[in-house]
Amino acid sequence: MGRPRLMTLIGTRPEIVKMSPLIPRFDEEFDHILVHSGQHYSANMDAVFFEDLELRRPDHMLEVGSHPPGKQTALILAAVEGLLAELGPVALVVHGDTNTTLAGGLAAAKRSTTALVHVEAGARSGNPKQAEEINRQIVDRVTDIHFVPYERDLKNLQAEGIPTDRAYVTGNTVIASCLRASTLDGAERILDSHGIAAGRYALATYHRQEAVDDAATLRGICAAIDEVSKRLPVILPLHPRTRKMMEQYGISFASAAVTVTEPVGYRQMIALLSNARFCLTDSGGLMEEAGVLRVPGLILRRETEHVRYVESGIHALVGTDFDTISHEAERLSDDAEHRDRVNAAPSNAGIDPVERIMGQLRAELS
Ligand code: UD1
Repeated sequence: MGRPRLMTLIGTRPEIVKMSPLIPRFDEEFDHILVHSGQHYSANMDAVFFEDLELRRPDHMLEVGSHPPGKQTALILAAVEGLLAELGPVALVVHGDTNTTLAGGLAAAKRSTTALVHVEAGARSGNPKQAEEINRQIVDRVTDIHFVPYERDLKNLQAEGIPTDRAYVTGNTVIASCLRASTLDGAERILDSHGIAAGRYALATYHRQEAVDDAATLRGICAAIDEVSKRLPVILPLHPRTRKMMEQYGISFASAAVTVTEPVGYRQMIALLSNARFCLTDSGGLMEEAGVLRVPGLILRRETEHVRYVESGIHALVGTDFDTISHEAERLSDDAEHRDRVNAAPSNAGIDPVERIMGQLRAELS
């Protein structure tokens, strides 16, 4: 009997990053087909991550591109449905909470012969209005094999009445992605190129719909970044959604100490993050990476599905309000003891999510 045929669907920056440690392992052990939806397509949101993470090219590029969420999901769903029918894999692996994840999940759910595998299952922000929360809940409902990062995520599934006899606690694969990237060379130059010194700047990123689509919220965050930069220079690799909305609302930074760049590649991002005094972010991936690298974070959200590092005190949930962000950033800029507390907090570096997932998947599909 040949090796089981496995299909993996990716489509956005976080999926490429977080699936990157698994893809070469899937290639080794399964008859593996890698599919890219094309939800992200710009060189700096897509190709650079394949280069930085030394990933092979996908076997199928769906080239769906940007559309309103319903249409984007529908186009990916129809295309994946066609590929599943043509290639008949025994399982489809999706990751996380994007429109690509939802589309792949629904396509597999319609086929009794293809098991749906969800990596980073069970994470919940508790905000039912959030696009990613809706995607996660729907996909977990139809998933056959759940790989959940932490115990709490398993409990979330149980609380929703989702069967967990095929749910496995594995740790988050982003741990492997960022630890590997932090050992790759060629990253340090980015500090020099922006004239910033290790430990003497803050790194900011924000792109979520609830942070950037509303003018008043986005204006408040940008004003707070301006304020933070009075004490510490801020470097801000700008997501295309954020750039588009800032232009639309006529928002810009007053301070010359805010350096806005295009989105950066993965090695550069990990270099910027690991050398930052602290980060301000609404990204779940960056939050987890900052936790692993022990860089304190101010999380620009009211709730998060990645509670681990908030509970351990490395990160603080500060929302999107100008006064709270400015106040907390001031506290972090001045508080040398916080660094010691962060260094003492438990780390996830000892967990090997890739081996845990491979072991369970091998057993499930053999
Ligand atoms: C998506 C995910 C989000 C994830 C984020 C990472 C959903 C619902 N959201 O949000 O969970 O954190 O990816 O980046 O799927 N654009 C480009 N080039 C690209 C891709 C997008 O310029 O390669 C621009 C387009 O104007 C597009 C906008 O960014 O309309 C938003 O892209 P989209 O993929 O719809 O959502 P993200 O905000 O990136």
